Amino acid sequence: MAWQRAASLSSIKDGAVIGVDVGGTPVALFNLGGTVFATHNVCTHALALLSEGWIEDGKIECPLHQGQFDIRTGKALCAPLTEDLRTYAAKVDGDDILVDLD
Ligand code: FES
Repeated sequence: MAWQRAASLSSIKDGAVIGVDVGGTPVALFNLGGTVFATHNVCTHALALLSEGWIEDGKIECPLHQGQFDIRTGKALCAPLTEDLRTYAAKVDGDDILVDLD
């Protein structure tokens, strides 16, 4: 495990997502009821940032063609998506959000 600091927990409101750069990798950080989840921030369908999408019921909806992924598992849930989203381990230490991109 190679934990890297990605952001402050206080910078993500409950039910929100932010996009960050972690060592050159675009990462989306989600706060779902105080639990943080991390995924790759680029949609698997085309070039769109999921951090600019909408969260509903634990799903992130892509802003470009409305494909939806499960935030916890990265599973692609509907067309036009055919490929799941990469997820990363995330944990909170104080106000720091740490992610493991390995
Ligand atoms: Fe995300 Fe098309 S770019 S659904």
